[in-house]
Amino acid sequence: MGFGLAINFALWGYPTTIYDLDDQILAKTIQRVKKALDMFATEDLISRRRSEETFERIAFTSDIENLADADFITEAIVERLFDKQELFNHLDKICKSQTIIASNTSTLRMGDIAEGVKRQDKVVLTHYFTPPHIVPGVEVAKGPGTTDETFNLTYDLLKNVRKTPVRVLKDFIIPELPGYLLNTMQRALEGAAYRLWAEGVASAEDIDLGIKASFGFRNPHEGPFMHADFSAHFKWPADVQDRQVKRTLAMPGLSEEARERLRKRFADGVGTWFIDPNKFEEAEEMRDRQYARRLKELYWGKLD
Ligand SMILES: NC(=O)c1ccc[n+]([C@@H]2O[C@H](COP(=O)([O-])OP(=O)(O)OC[C@H]3O[C@@H](n4cnc5c(N)ncnc54)[C@H](O)[C@@H]3O)[C@@H](O)[C@H]2O)c1
Repeated sequence: MGFGLAINFALWGYPTTIYDLDDQILAKTIQRVKKALDMFATEDLISRRRSEETFERIAFTSDIENLADADFITEAIVERLFDKQELFNHLDKICKSQTIIASNTSTLRMGDIAEGVKRQDKVVLTHYFTPPHIVPGVEVAKGPGTTDETFNLTYDLLKNVRKTPVRVLKDFIIPELPGYLLNTMQRALEGAAYRLWAEGVASAEDIDLGIKASFGFRNPHEGPFMHADFSAHFKWPADVQDRQVKRTLAMPGLSEEARERLRKRFADGVGTWFIDPNKFEEAEEMRDRQYARRLKELYWGKLD
């Protein structure tokens, strides 16, 4: 992940350093960075000049002391608590007091990773999605001591490098789906996929194909809330809406507070989340145009 994170920042003008354990690993990383930037240029995402300038903005080191002056560090080492704790504590000692230290952990808690670190106000989670130099979304979450200033600065920095930061507001884990916000949902989907495959309901090929060709096809433009709007749940008769609401409220493990929040949300009929019901047809037409473009690009090509 680290090589891709570095590309994100260097691409938008930030001098960036990649630190790893030894020079042999770094030699491979240099090649990965070059290859990724070359691909961006051949795909016409960036100019050849920008690709070269970006590479020149990235330094490579196996000496951690070279990070002491960094303003912002993102840790993306092995997913092992002890190693991350050791690194965070080392960086805490050598870095200037303003340095923000972020972790790209997928499953560990920020509070645990930063145990013993003095600058609790300046640690933060930024969780990327592979390939991290391409996928725009990044989750941003606080540790127990993270200040609003650090959180907002991190959020703004990600915006500056044209990522799409998503704020995680609470340290909340569903035990059987460990992860932050988005991995929780991804794991629920993966769990269902593995189960349906194991039960013999469909082959692995058909499960993947079905997802890509159905809700995966729609996902670039809608999540579950926008989908509820576009499926026009708000137009359903009251008794049908009521059935849906009851199913949602029956979710296992839902806290009483969350149940109450849902009850309130549904109190006056399901309602829309985003789309003004008076502009529904207009929104639907826009959506269909976007889908038609994707149908052409991914499935049909141009028909005569
Ligand atoms: N791979 C993914 O899809 C993905 C997605 C989101 C988050 N993450 C998280 O990002 C982190 C890295 O994942 P990855 O897949 O890139 O792992 P990786 O094993 O490919 O890379 C880890 C790198 O860290 C280096 N390293 C290990 N210990 C180190 C130390 N003590 N000091 C300095 N460098 C050290 C290794 O040499 C290696 O180059 C993990 O926390 C992982 O959970 C991974």
